[in-house]
This record gives sequence, C-alpha cells and structure tokens, in this order.
Amino acid sequence: MSDERNHFYVTTPIYYVNDQPHIGHAYTTILADVLARYHRLLGIPTHFLTGTDEHGQKVQQAATQRGVTPQEHVDTYVTRFTDLWQHLDITHDDFIRTTEPRHKKIVQHVLAELFARDEIYRAEYDGWYCVTCERFYTEKDLDAGKCPEPGCHKPVEKIRETNYFFRMSKYQDWLIEYIEEHPSFIQPDFRRNETLGFLRKPLTDLCISRPKTRMSWGIELPFDPDFVTYVWFDALLNYVSAIGYGVDDTQFRQWWPASMHLIGKDILTTHTVYWPTMLHAMGLPMPKTIFAHGWWLIGRDKMSKSAGNVVNPMELAARYGVDAFRYFLMAEMVLGQDASFTQEGFVRRYNADLANDLGNLLSRVVRMTVSHFDGKIPSPGALATEEKYLQEVTVAAVIGMRDAVERMRMDQGISGLAGAIREANRYLELRQPWALAKQGPAARGLMGTTLYCAAETLRMVSGMLYPVMPEKMAVLRAALGCTAGAPDYTRLSHWGELKVGTPLQPIKPLFPRISFEQASTSPEPKSQPASSSKSGKKASALPEGLISFDTFGSLDLRVAQIESAEKVQGADKLLCLQVLVGAEKRQIVAGLATSYAPEDLVGKQVVIVANLAPARIRGVESQGMLLAADGEDQLRVITVEPGAAHGAKVR
Ligand code: ME8
Ligand code: MG
Repeated sequence: MSDERNHFYVTTPIYYVNDQPHIGHAYTTILADVLARYHRLLGIPTHFLTGTDEHGQKVQQAATQRGVTPQEHVDTYVTRFTDLWQHLDITHDDFIRTTEPRHKKIVQHVLAELFARDEIYRAEYDGWYCVTCERFYTEKDLDAGKCPEPGCHKPVEKIRETNYFFRMSKYQDWLIEYIEEHPSFIQPDFRRNETLGFLRKPLTDLCISRPKTRMSWGIELPFDPDFVTYVWFDALLNYVSAIGYGVDDTQFRQWWPASMHLIGKDILTTHTVYWPTMLHAMGLPMPKTIFAHGWWLIGRDKMSKSAGNVVNPMELAARYGVDAFRYFLMAEMVLGQDASFTQEGFVRRYNADLANDLGNLLSRVVRMTVSHFDGKIPSPGALATEEKYLQEVTVAAVIGMRDAVERMRMDQGISGLAGAIREANRYLELRQPWALAKQGPAARGLMGTTLYCAAETLRMVSGMLYPVMPEKMAVLRAALGCTAGAPDYTRLSHWGELKVGTPLQPIKPLFPRISFEQASTSPEPKSQPASSSKSGKKASALPEGLISFDTFGSLDLRVAQIESAEKVQGADKLLCLQVLVGAEKRQIVAGLATSYAPEDLVGKQVVIVANLAPARIRGVESQGMLLAADGEDQLRVITVEPGAAHGAKVR
C-alpha cells in the first residue's frame, strides 16, 4: 500500500471513551497495528494514530450518574483503552484525546476560519436527534420513526432550537464527482456504492453546534460562547489536529493526506460525507483511502450490553495469549464483510493452525536437529522435486501475503501462509526424517536436506507473520537461530537464507493445545462445581459476559437506613448521606442531588454495596455505594419492603 508520497499514515476511529472496550474496538486497532508494522518493516515511514472521543451527551450523563465531573470521568475511563492497547502489543505512534488542549485549539481554529469565510451560519433548527449516534436527522431520514443508522434504530428525540450549520450541501456535486473519479477513496467497492446511494438524496447542511443549555460538555464555539461543538465535527478533526495541523506545518505535511482511515461500517457516512466536505472547505486534500470493515458478530448476534454477549478482549487475550487472539482476528475476518466470533471457532482455529501445524512443525524440526545434528542447522543437498515444490509453495505464500496486505485481504494472505506450513508438515511425512535417522550414514544427507527445507519454510513464514504475532514469532525465530530483532523484509522471499551451522534453541511448545472442555462455551453456570471457580483458574469455563456465583457472592450487599442527607458544597450533583448499617454508621456520597431533595431521602431503607473500597469523591469520604435504577433523566433509589432491619444481608 506504499503510496506515491512514500509514507503510511494509518488511523483508527477514536473510540467513545465511555464504552467498555470490546472485540470490535480491539479488531480495528489490531488491524491498524498489523498494517503499521508491515509498513515499518518495508522501510516506509509510518505514523499510526488512535485515541478517544471524549465529548458529548453520553459522557456528560455518565459523569452525572457517577457524581464526578466529565473531565474526571474521562480521565478515569480512558485508561481502559490505553491499558488494553498496551496489553495487545499495539504500537501506535500517538494517542489523541479530544479533551487535550492541542486538539481543542485546532477545532476552534478551524471553526473560526470557516465561520469567517461564511462556510458556517446560524439558523433555527427543527428535527430529530439520536442520542446514541449523537446525530441529527430530518423527518425523511428516519426509518419507521427511529434512528436510520443500521445497527442503532433507537427512538429519536424531537428538537427545535437555534444552531450553527456548516454549508455541507453545496459540496454534494463535488463530492459525488470526487468519489467517482477516485475508486480507491472509499473501500471496499460496495461501500463506495453505499455512499453514492446516500448522496442521491439531497444533502442537507450539517448542524455543528449544541446549545450549552442542553449539553455543555464540548468545545466552545469561538464565535458564540453559548454553544459547544457537535461531537462529530470535533472528533473527525482529530485526524489532522494530532499531526500538527495549524501548528507544525512540517509535521503536518509529512503525514497528510492520510493513507488509510480504518473504520467500521457503522460510521461510513460521517467519514465519507461529513469528513471529506469538511476537508474540502478547509482547502485540504482528501485521505487516500477510507476503509470500512464489517461487524464482529457473536455467533449470529450483534454484540450488545443488553444481550450480555460483549466479548472482552482483555479476558480472551489473558486466557489464550495476545498473539493467538491477534492471529484469530486477522485470519478470520474477510475484510469488508461481517465475521462471527464463537469460542469454539476460536479454539478450533487455534488448535488447527497454531498448536498442530505451526507449533508441531517447529518442535519436530528443533527436536530432530538437536538429536541428530548436534542442534545445528544441517546442510541441504541438491533439491529434488519434493523440495522444490515446498520451496515454491513457501515463496508463493510470502509473496501472496505481501500482495494480500496491499489488497486488504489479510485472511487470504494468512491462509496462504498456513497452507505453506501444512505443506511443510506433509513434506516431513513424505520424507520421514525420523525413519531416515535409523538408516545410517547413507540417509544422513537427505535427512539434513529435509530438516533444512522445513526450517527454511518456518523462517520465511514466521517473518511474514511477525506483524500479526510479534511476540511468538520472535520466540520462534530465536529458536531457529535467526538474527534477533525484526525480520529483514527486503530478503524475506529469498529461499536459502538460513545459515548452515546456526545453533537452534530448544523451546517449550509455542502454542499448547487447548482442550474443548477447557474452553467450552455451553456449560450452565449453575452446573459448575463451586470449587472450580475457586481453583484460581479464573473461571475458564464461563461463557463471555457471565460472572461466577463466587464473584456475585463476593459482593456484600446490605440494607441501610438513611439518617440524614445534605448537599456536598461545590458539587451540584452530589449528596452526602449518613446511613445506619446494623451497629455501624457510615457516610456515603451519591450522585442523587438532581433526582432527590435531601429531606426526601431521610428514613428510607436502601441497599448498599458494603464492601466497596472507600473512595474520596470531591474531597468527601464515601464508604460504600448505594444502588439506584437509572431512570430517564433521574436516578431512583432501590428501597426495601418493610420488615427487614438495617444491616441485613441482601442476596
Ligand atoms: O463511533 N465489529 O466510536 P465507537 C467490528 N467515537 N468493529 C467494531 C464493532 C464490531 N461489532 N463495534 C465497534 C465512534 N467497532 C466514534 C468515532 S472517529 C472520528 C469517531 C469498531 O466507540 C469499529 O471500528 O462507537 C467502529 O467503527 C468503531 O469501533 C466505533 O467505535
Ligand atoms: Mg459506536
């Protein structure tokens, strides 16, 4: 994918900081990482950007519910992403948060300039708003009265207010023509057609503001302090604010235009309609490619919190290994289409490709070289048809992977490499080096040739898989005596580079087999013997999204009686409660002030989490947490029917 300008700038969406990171976020980021690593190995200057989207109504609501400021909230939650990327071996060059001054400054700079040039105007707005997508829709955009975004389809709110608008509609014809003339601009092809289809309807102007009276957590408009910037207008600009737009021209010109914006199909319109027209109005060139991949489904279902099927990438990687997880995601998804995640599918592929084929080939080659050639790579004799065939398949797989990366068909490239490994195992079965070993000196030459050729396939394939499984392939290559560090991509398709006499390092199995019982997804949680989850094996048999009975039992839920309540000074959402829990008196800080007057709470019997570690909230000590239901725009505390004493355990 090296482009004419010989740089590779790849981005992921900046994820909503509020969301629990799941396999979908992990996928896009791992894909970007694999692409970045390939380009670096090819010697192409590479810049890889990811980050978090931290403004908007949902963040504000979540912060209110937790009784903290939005900034405190995002500062806490961003670590779930930064920790995950570290854990998954992601090599981003930069991580941008939209609450950073470097970003806010640029958003305001762009807004001021577009406003001065009359690309932005003020008007009355009347329409529908989807809180989930944070987007406005006109009456005819709606799908059966609901949000038209595939995969959202939530109820929308009617809204009438004054706002600021970006003159997006005037760029409609330009955009259609640009897309038609640049086939690689929106990929895959069927997504380009989807955008062109969308552009057949008249394009409206884009509302780019929110009145602070309704939502204040955003970047203030530089020309009207009563408004903040619409999250999408803010968020999309991360791709240029992060590389020094308007601040550091040299850096900006080094990376812009981006080579590849990787996105999921859910955010196609924002990236292929809003973003290009914004850039065009700013007078900037278009990114080379916007690539929209499909969904990860769980079995056949969409992942959702309410379905309880959200796959936690941290847990999967911890259970099966980071590299195996990366490999599965890259091998399994046909880019552009949806893919299905199941625990069985994961284990099946892991056992077949990694434990059996790759792991087995490595251990066979190392074991026999250690026992028959003093642990040193033997010298190959002349190559017969069988060896030449293995060589051909291997070289073709290496070139195929290179080509697959260019075509964004990682699945095909990996499948070719897995095929070369299978071929090498077949080749060993054919040559039977273990039988040759018993035939004395006459067979020694052929045995050496056999081990050399199998090792050579391993060297070449492991080099190509290095960006996908950096840690495991480094171990494999060290075992083969390859020079330490990243493989040399300029020579990777050359057969015969493995040096005769190189000492091999015996290693433990790279990918231990996973038994199906160990990974089974179907046991009833109740049928699990209580001891199994206590055994420290971290409840390996639990389906994703479920907790063990023990985990539940570790919560100490108690009835508490509210003795008094008062507002916390300087925090308009917080109440400080004094509660009785049996013989104990406790103080709990809760975000209830916008839902209850303090006096309304006195005397209520509520439920608290009694064994939560104490925390200081706005400088006030809180000893536990009170349970409440999350209503439309207020919290309702959980109360207890008369007859229970405070201090009673809730189970
Ligand atoms: O949309 N399968 O953030 P977001 C595959 N903040 N990929 C998935 C997925 C799934 N089931 N679910 C999510 C936003 N993704 C905005 C972006 S960019 C200027 C602003 C991935 O947290 C996929 O890349 O909802 C998708 O586009 C992205 O997460 C959406 O992340
Ligand atoms: Mg989303």
